[in-house]
Amino acid sequence: MNSIVGRSLLTLTDFSTEELRFILDVSHQVKRERRAGEHHSRFAGKSLAMIFEKRSTRTRAAFETAFGEEGGHPVFLSSQDIQLGAKETIEDTARVLGRMFDIIEFRGFEQRAVEVLASFSGVPVINGLTDMFHPTQALADLMTIEEHMGTLAGVQSVYIGDGHNNVSISLMLGAARMGMNHCVICPAERTPNPKYVTRAQEYAEQSGGSITIDHDPRSINRNTNVVYTDVWVSMGEEDRAEERIAPLRPYQVTGELMSRAPQAVFLHCLPAVRGNEMTTEVIDGPQSRVFDQAENRKHTIKAVMLATLGLA
Ligand code: CP
Ligand code: NVA
Repeated sequence: MNSIVGRSLLTLTDFSTEELRFILDVSHQVKRERRAGEHHSRFAGKSLAMIFEKRSTRTRAAFETAFGEEGGHPVFLSSQDIQLGAKETIEDTARVLGRMFDIIEFRGFEQRAVEVLASFSGVPVINGLTDMFHPTQALADLMTIEEHMGTLAGVQSVYIGDGHNNVSISLMLGAARMGMNHCVICPAERTPNPKYVTRAQEYAEQSGGSITIDHDPRSINRNTNVVYTDVWVSMGEEDRAEERIAPLRPYQVTGELMSRAPQAVFLHCLPAVRGNEMTTEVIDGPQSRVFDQAENRKHTIKAVMLATLGLA
């Protein structure tokens, strides 16, 4: 799809419904290819810079294996080791990396950092998580929901827990783009930023979906197709753990809560804290699809790189 070539993915709002549809279609395709044992070399001769200021298992593994297995050269750059923002401005690092790499992944704290990298590098920059957004996670979430439901339009999804965090906001925006009926159930103090709720509601109006905010976990019912949660304390907020956790306790996903929605799948971006945001019986139970979801990080990330590099 020509409109995606050369673009960055800094937040899901960067891409239209049609562009997200294209990336999801490519994601399903590359998953089928892998299942069929097909080998391709679409990244041959290309290099990927992977900058990490925060820890990662899935995102790092997904980028590195997706790029490397198709002949590309991924280079892991921990912020402990490079000059980024310490001895050198982000602008200068971006200019240098743009001359050596075809594409850049960034995981870190400030959204401004990915924006600067995208503005100054001249190559596509993919946001691998910031304090504000986690767009590649939302793509894997949508892919997993589509695998389960066969569609996205009209799906009744619930995100329960810390509604204000990066994963919640990105899922809400993605659900709105794709015509889902998405509800965020959270304590009042962890409601998503109203700016993004308004944006998501505008998208939902165009796509035929809906976005609602609720504070009662009992709103999960027989019509709910997806129950999603994330950690109560995100990376970088560890010193605020106590104030975060107390109001979130009533929002734990329990077996009893899942039994209200017997057809629903349970999703979590992982890593998970058993005994906090959900009980062990839920994450390890029959409704859980969290490891399909984790695997789909790789297929969706490969699809984003193929699409932005003009190789899809
Ligand atoms: N879901 C996710 O981003 O996992 P990692 O922090 O392990 O990359
Ligand atoms: N909200 C979590 C997601 C981790 C993948 C965090 O930012 O730590």
